[in-house]
Amino acid sequence: MNKKILLSENDIPKQWYNIVADMKTKPLPPLNPKTKEVINPADLEPIFAKELIGQELSQERWIDIPDEVRELYKIWRPTPLVRATGLEKALGTPAHIYFKNEGVSPIGSHKLNSALPQAYYNKKQGIKRLTTETGAGQWGTALSFAASVFGLELDVYMVKVSYEQKPYRRSMMQTWGANVIPSPSNKTEAGRSILAKDPNNSGSLGIAISEAVEMALKDDDTRYTLGSVLNHVSLHQTVIGLESEKQMEIAGEYPDIVIGCFGGGSNFSGISFPFLRHKILDGKGIRIIAAEPASCPKLSRGKFEYDYGDSTGLTPLLPMYTLGHDFQPADIHAGGLRYHGAGTIVSQLHKDGLVEVQDIPQLETFEAGQMFANTEGIIPAPESTHAIAAAIREALKAKEEGVQKNILFCLSGHGLIDMSAYDQYLSGTMTNFKLTDEDIAKTTDTLEKLAP
Ligand SMILES: Cc1ncc(COP(=O)(O)O)c(C=O)c1O
Repeated sequence: MNKKILLSENDIPKQWYNIVADMKTKPLPPLNPKTKEVINPADLEPIFAKELIGQELSQERWIDIPDEVRELYKIWRPTPLVRATGLEKALGTPAHIYFKNEGVSPIGSHKLNSALPQAYYNKKQGIKRLTTETGAGQWGTALSFAASVFGLELDVYMVKVSYEQKPYRRSMMQTWGANVIPSPSNKTEAGRSILAKDPNNSGSLGIAISEAVEMALKDDDTRYTLGSVLNHVSLHQTVIGLESEKQMEIAGEYPDIVIGCFGGGSNFSGISFPFLRHKILDGKGIRIIAAEPASCPKLSRGKFEYDYGDSTGLTPLLPMYTLGHDFQPADIHAGGLRYHGAGTIVSQLHKDGLVEVQDIPQLETFEAGQMFANTEGIIPAPESTHAIAAAIREALKAKEEGVQKNILFCLSGHGLIDMSAYDQYLSGTMTNFKLTDEDIAKTTDTLEKLAP
């Protein structure tokens, strides 16, 4: 039995997989936030590069990966698929647990899979400057490197709580030449209006997106990029699952369960969509699980409605499971999972019963993270610990039932820049956050009014 299954550069996929082509119920279309009509691709052009808009609305099954992007993927791809034998032993489970290690990328997470093509398409179109938001800092670092490779300027609006908790992420972005601004900021109307109401606001991805979109709309040479939620981001991330498919084949096994942690859905989509296509097209009995934080449970406790992707309503209205664009998540350490909505594709798949969800309290995730570190040697990102916790739950269930299951999860990133979170966990001062139905109702009750 191989501990680690490696592929060669030739095995890096040549195309991304677009699951929309195979979905029986297609996702509902995005709406123009002003007219509430179905979006016209031209409406998006002041915000995004044209090729990315094409991918966002595409129904084609396979989309070519440009050679320039594939060459850059070679810096770290294909990533290893590892059998977590240490973890299996510690759990005493008959389950075989595999993880796809996306933490080996130069920036430490899966986010570079989409940052490179997004920077590439913008550069190709002649765009000079990009704006973006970042939560945990992983997307910001990914885009900083990608912008630097393609000679683009970059402004990153970083959620204030992460800016303060994760100073080294900021330094990484600055090393790659990006301007990093704590959000909410005084630079934008969106930021100023939030600070006027609440000067101590610790920020959220929704607010940071408003700021970054606003700045892109103000300048013709600037475009906005997003690290999650949107269809084209999920599309780029399918390299994770496509490689895993080959690696599982080499291992001589097929996953019964595929798990990804869930922020806006990009690493989850990346690992799961290529396998989900076997379930949709060939009726494979495979379970797909999204692991989300109990304090930001959009898929398990949110509403399926049209909602904005940001806090102030500048983005298109997207049909998704959402906690409401005004939802202010607790300051959990998995900053990248503190987002109010789920991507439209995953939302539709969940509505159709093709995707399961588990919501996991913060303390359980860190317990899982520490167990993983001690058995497999890798300190996982706080976001990734959600996938590990869900994998452990399933492995223990297999043990209880006395059945052998193959479990595959995405290790979306390492946690070496997140040690302040581990410090808090180890000192015993970390807490779980309770979210009541009344809390959720406050930001979801008015959602029906947004769409016609
Ligand atoms: C390491 C890591 N994993 C997961 C996520 C969640 O994002 P997504 O749901 O788009 O994969 C993030 C987001 O910042 C992250 O940094």
